[in-house]
Amino acid sequence: MDKIYQDNQIIGGVNLSVQFAQKVQLTQKERMLLEDQKSHEEVCIKEYQDYASRVHCTELKQLFNNLASKEQEHLNTINQLLNGEIPQMSSSQSGQSGQSGQQWSQSGQQFSQQSTSQSQSYNQEDATLCTHMLMTEKYVSGAYNTAIFEFKDPNIRQILNHIQKEEQEHGEQIFNYMYQHGMYNPQ
Ligand SMILES: [Fe+2]
Ligand SMILES: [Fe+2]
Repeated sequence: MDKIYQDNQIIGGVNLSVQFAQKVQLTQKERMLLEDQKSHEEVCIKEYQDYASRVHCTELKQLFNNLASKEQEHLNTINQLLNGEIPQMSSSQSGQSGQSGQQWSQSGQQFSQQSTSQSQSYNQEDATLCTHMLMTEKYVSGAYNTAIFEFKDPNIRQILNHIQKEEQEHGEQIFNYMYQHGMYNPQ
C-alpha cells in the first residue's frame, strides 16, 4: 500500500507543476462509491434549482439557489476524483470555508437572538420543501460518512470529509431558516 502511495506521490510531483493535481488509481469500490455520490450531488442540484423556482419566500429562494451552486462545486470535485485527479485544497478554498465558518457563527448568533421571536406564518409548501431538503442533506451526509471509510488515499478522505462537513452546514442553514420561520420547533 505504501508503495502505491509513493508511486502516486512521484506521479503527483510531475503533474503538480502541470495540472496542480495528483493522479490516483481508484479501486473498483472507490469508483462505485464516487459514482453514487455523483448522482446524489446531481439530484441535489436539480432539486435545489427546481425548488428555488417554486418557493414563495424570497429569502428561501435565495438560500436554495445558493445551495444549488454549492452542490455544483461538490459535483465538480467528485468528477475530478473520478478522473483520477486529486484537487488541491487551495488557499482560496480554505479561505472560503473560513469565511463561511464566520457566516455560520453569525447565523448562529442570529438564530439565538431570534429564537424568542419566531415568525408563525409560513407557506405550507415552502415548509414541505424545506423538510424534504433537510432529509436529503441528512442522507447525503451519511452516505459521505460511509464512503470515507473505504478510501486508501488520505487526501481523498480529507476532501470527502470536507464535503461532508459542508453538507452538515447546508442542513444547519435549512434548520435555522425553518426554526426562524416557525416551521420546526424541536422541544
Ligand atoms: Fe453536496
Ligand atoms: Fe448539501
